[in-house]
Amino acid sequence: MTTNQSTSQAGTAQTGTAQTGTRTLGSTGPGVFPLGLGCMGMSALYGEADRAESLATIHAALDAGVTLLDTGDFYGMGHNELLINEALRTAPAAARDKALTSVKFGALRTVEGGFTGYDGRPEAVKNFLAYSLQRLGRDHIDVYRIARVDPDVPIEETVGAIAEAVAAGHVRHIGLSEVGADTLRRAAAVAPIADLQIEYSLISRGIEEEILPTARELGIGVTAYGVLSRGLISGHFTRDRALAPGDFRGMSPRFQGGNLDRNLDLVDALRKVADEKGVTVAQTAIAWVLSRGADIVPLVGARTRDRLGEALGALQVTLTPADLAAIEDAVPAGAAAGERYPAAQMAHLDSEH
Ligand SMILES: NC(=O)c1ccc[n+]([C@@H]2O[C@H](COP(=O)([O-])OP(=O)(O)OC[C@H]3O[C@@H](n4cnc5c(N)ncnc54)[C@H](OP(=O)(O)O)[C@@H]3O)[C@@H](O)[C@H]2O)c1
Repeated sequence: MTTNQSTSQAGTAQTGTAQTGTRTLGSTGPGVFPLGLGCMGMSALYGEADRAESLATIHAALDAGVTLLDTGDFYGMGHNELLINEALRTAPAAARDKALTSVKFGALRTVEGGFTGYDGRPEAVKNFLAYSLQRLGRDHIDVYRIARVDPDVPIEETVGAIAEAVAAGHVRHIGLSEVGADTLRRAAAVAPIADLQIEYSLISRGIEEEILPTARELGIGVTAYGVLSRGLISGHFTRDRALAPGDFRGMSPRFQGGNLDRNLDLVDALRKVADEKGVTVAQTAIAWVLSRGADIVPLVGARTRDRLGEALGALQVTLTPADLAAIEDAVPAGAAAGERYPAAQMAHLDSEH
């Protein structure tokens, strides 16, 4: 039996006021600063990152009040967790004590950096966890989740293993990543689930129909990633941007040829709304996600202090009903060209089945 309860206020859209209060991850999770910092790009997928700037960005985020740091043990194959370890070790004690780690596990990698599948067996969960605690230098992880459902292991077994780690004190809360409504229900029947981490943005609205209402019914919060669609709708991405080998955007359907042209046309339309309000495109896109409900915490993938500062500015943006209508007009639901992942990766998304 789940102990998650439906939270009546969870889905209330936050319009008309700046977004400054704490948000809670579901009905059983921790209170967090309304924006989380996604650290993935500091180790992987978006080309070379500057280590000193990455550390400075994490410190600046903590200094600004950010509490939730999101990572995966496979981001740079351990690199990202070691980076967070260093950032927390060198941060002021007060900030370090408030920091919460959200860690994904389960991805299987090759020496060459490829991905070969997911392992959600209970013994694998315990093994991944032991390594992550060591790399992070912490005695617990605040929210622990498998990155993608292992098709060979029932979700009940994977979640059950994390629940045992909760009972042992090594994990505080259980999360999920990119799962659909049925899996949400099955997982929530095993143990309380704090949050679902899933892509959600102006151009990725697939969760609205079934997944988000189910999460709300079950009292499960949402940590939204890709709120800038990996930079595509940040206002900074240009058609002629050179991408390093291995950059995710070099393979992402939304960044290719005619799709990119179409998607950047949407950004131009969004820019008109942003200019009108005197804010940036990125701030408008982040503020829109914040406006979708107090149960949604956007993870921003800032890799520099400048980008972080811009993202934090979204918390001061007030979107009126007229602004929201103008945003919807500029970027109607379903307007994006191209899927959000290449076909092989779409196949791993329980949320898309
Ligand atoms: N559960 C999952 O399956 C999953 C999948 C992917 C990511 N995640 C998590 O979600 C986090 C965020 O995802 P993401 O990095 O793909 O999404 P994102 O925030 O949509 O995109 C981040 C990219 O946008 C660009 N950008 C431009 N202006 C920005 C601004 N003001 N603030 C932040 N970024 C800006 C940055 O690139 P430039 O600075 O180069 O322009 C950055 O690399 C990740 O770090 C990871 O922790 C989870």
